[in-house]
Amino acid sequence: MTSAWSKKTWRNLERIQMPVYRDMDKLNEVEARLRSYPPLVFAGEARKLTKQLGEVAEGRAFLLQGGDCAESFDEFSADNIRETYKVLLQMAVVLTFGAKRPVVKVGRMAGQFAKPRSAPTETSEGIELPSYRGDIINELAFTPEAREPNPDKMLRAYTQSAASLNLLRAFSQGGFADIARVHQWTTGFANEAPGTERYKKLADRITESLDFMEAAGINGNTTSELHTVDFYTSHEALLLEYEEALCRKDTTSGHWIAGSGHMIWIGDRTRQPDGAHIEFCRGVINPIGLKCGPSLKPDELITLIDQLNPDNIPGRLTLINRFGAGKVGDHLPGLIRAVEREGKKVVWSCDPMHGNTIKSSSGFKTRPFDSVMQEVHEFFSIHKAEGTYAGGVHFEMTGKDVTECTGGIHAVSDEDLNLRYHTACDPRLNAAQALELAFLVSEELHSRREEQRAAV
Ligand code: PEP
Ligand code: CO
Repeated sequence: MTSAWSKKTWRNLERIQMPVYRDMDKLNEVEARLRSYPPLVFAGEARKLTKQLGEVAEGRAFLLQGGDCAESFDEFSADNIRETYKVLLQMAVVLTFGAKRPVVKVGRMAGQFAKPRSAPTETSEGIELPSYRGDIINELAFTPEAREPNPDKMLRAYTQSAASLNLLRAFSQGGFADIARVHQWTTGFANEAPGTERYKKLADRITESLDFMEAAGINGNTTSELHTVDFYTSHEALLLEYEEALCRKDTTSGHWIAGSGHMIWIGDRTRQPDGAHIEFCRGVINPIGLKCGPSLKPDELITLIDQLNPDNIPGRLTLINRFGAGKVGDHLPGLIRAVEREGKKVVWSCDPMHGNTIKSSSGFKTRPFDSVMQEVHEFFSIHKAEGTYAGGVHFEMTGKDVTECTGGIHAVSDEDLNLRYHTACDPRLNAAQALELAFLVSEELHSRREEQRAAV
């Protein structure tokens, strides 16, 4: 039997990867202030996203989740939000075409500020300081003042999230997301980039489909589905003081919702069945993501599923796999078989970023494009072999032309990394790499569909 839940019960359990605030009065004051603020999302939206993810769980839709590793206060601008959003929409059109299914679009945006770290402290030139944990907690600069966790940063994260979400909602509903316009940007990419003949072919087929629909009188003016999109936000629910302060009771249903974003996820480092993060997330009705890394055993996964989705609601739980290229076959089949044996309804999504981080010869943390694609490919092959549905992808990416991951059509090399290495945390795919990946995944989706067609 599970014990009673409240938005505070996580406080009785072991908390890891969370800061120790020294100024308790300030912390209490900030929490009180956040409790008085409006939530950023409301229950109806979380329910709608759960329903759409339920379609993914049943194999009738595909999930695209992506955005920054960590959003930053310094990089906050309309341009940055627009560029990332734009690439996500382009990717979604390309994936929709390959999958011939709706693509559920979820940004790692408008709330993705708190980071788990591999070590609690960092040492440089003999000085040891607390690790940087994301702009909602402390600052990147290597000084004792900057690294001190400061509760006031939660207020700034809230304000930035609210403004970002406002812009994303405006883009989604105001005409910016019109499919013909989005596809026009993609044609630009496919025509201009070197070595993109195969992408150009796919882009041309999308153009043809849109031209055909246009001729039949179906376009953004006549059909709102082509002119607007549903776009959702997500982040790791790591900083539980913040999450609790934005947790609200839905007055119509009596259910609790995390008001900080539409979907929240639990990191690979904070998914202990008896830990604080699982406890908080089990009680809110938002769709939940669970990162599944190499240390997760099948039995433990089933325990976690029972805790997070006791009613086995399709779309409630997304398992975000992140094993690393070459290792998916060691871990994923066991997890899939346990889930199938127990009849659990889940979305299987692939995060090919977090298991593929390496140190480059130039000293930067990077991710080779080919390893990222290889992990996606292994993920698809294993689902095919197991007869289950590969339902989504999860990327760290930006709309900017950064040089943080190596490879891709512009062949970013180890030596190029220092040109525009802007991330405060993990290396992100740049706009061209993200779009190229969408083309490659679209090809995978297309061939899966062809195989299914041939089989019936
Ligand atoms: C992340 O998604 O930024 C992250 C830290 O992932 P994981 O929990 O899978 O390591
Ligand atoms: Co990351």
